Amino acid sequence: MTAVSSPDPFRWRCSRPPPPSDHDTVTAATPAPDLAIESRGLTKRFGEQIAVNKIDLAVPRGAVFGFLGPNGSGKTTSIRMLLGLTQASSGQISVLGQSMPDSLHAVLPRVGALVEGPAFYPFLSGAANLRRLDTADRNAPSSTRGARVEQALARVGLTHAAGKKVAAYSLGMKQRLGIANALLQPRELLVLDEPTNGLDPQGTREVRSLVRSLAAEGTTVFVSSHLLAEVEQMCTHAAVMSGGNLVAQGTLADLRHVGQTRVRVRTPDAAAAAAVLTGLGLAPVHSDVPEQDPWVAAPLPREMSVDLTGQPESIVTALVAGGVRVRGFLIEESSLEERFVALTGEGFDVLQ
Ligand SMILES: Nc1ncnc2c1ncn2[C@@H]1O[C@H](COP(=O)(O)OP(=O)(O)OP(=O)(O)O)[C@@H](O)[C@H]1O
Ligand SMILES: [Mg+2]
Repeated sequence: MTAVSSPDPFRWRCSRPPPPSDHDTVTAATPAPDLAIESRGLTKRFGEQIAVNKIDLAVPRGAVFGFLGPNGSGKTTSIRMLLGLTQASSGQISVLGQSMPDSLHAVLPRVGALVEGPAFYPFLSGAANLRRLDTADRNAPSSTRGARVEQALARVGLTHAAGKKVAAYSLGMKQRLGIANALLQPRELLVLDEPTNGLDPQGTREVRSLVRSLAAEGTTVFVSSHLLAEVEQMCTHAAVMSGGNLVAQGTLADLRHVGQTRVRVRTPDAAAAAAVLTGLGLAPVHSDVPEQDPWVAAPLPREMSVDLTGQPESIVTALVAGGVRVRGFLIEESSLEERFVALTGEGFDVLQ
């Protein structure tokens, strides 16, 4: 994967992972006002293991930001550091423009979070659990508690189960109750760690539409997932984690252009075509066409492919101008899944 550099910080950046170092430096940084979350060189070590390796996250305000990565890639550990639930080994974090964890008490009331599910009392109902959690929140006005609990339960589709003991909730219902807890107050930022875990397809759709409606109201949503399809359907931006490294981030629209588009040229004039392509600064890879086309006289057409840079029309024009007989010209876009596999070296669960 070649590095893609761009002056726009939200375009996809595919980067080589930084080498781990024993001498992490922490440099002063001014938080960007248009970013809801920003990290610089954020690192977490567990003994010898580097679970998160110098990641630079940039989550624009108003985005639905998918934090995508296979199991064990460091998503939850990163989220825990962002929220001050665990201490970073090194690096800097800014959430809603304030440095973390120094401004924890000022920042957290503005952030709703679901990380690995809150602990609920099984013998209390869903509504009673939310009331308890709301009581524990110093910033939550008690006068509006009942109405807010009711509203939060309605938003996640749990009104019918409000009075039911949590012990009798399914995993999906507990997950929704966790999201309801994050929604007890209006939040500027919602951080959801795998919110659709344990949900059935209907529940998954509901969470997706809930996230979209929250975003439409202006809430920034940072949501982790190991499901590519989910991130594609729900998010405006995404970052990809792989083995503790942040390997790409940017808008979903730009993500579709990450990775190489290849062009295949079929021609009997292989040598001339190779010369033209090389002249264009492209590096042709040759391959023999497996079966001979009965309509083509000898010599056997050969196929060569190049990574596309620039416009495909200009390649055809140059080939024709160079006297190359073009018998086939094919533009191959790699699928989004192939791009992720190329970025992470691992497959993603694409089905739900
Ligand atoms: N408390 C801990 N002590 C030691 N190692 C840990 C601890 N927490 C996480 N790790 C390790 O850090 C790595 C990243 O784990 P993390 O939970 O952040 O991954 P994840 O991307 O959230 O995975 P998943 O998709 O399975 O939730 C893993 O190798 C994990 O074993
Ligand atoms: Mg996790």
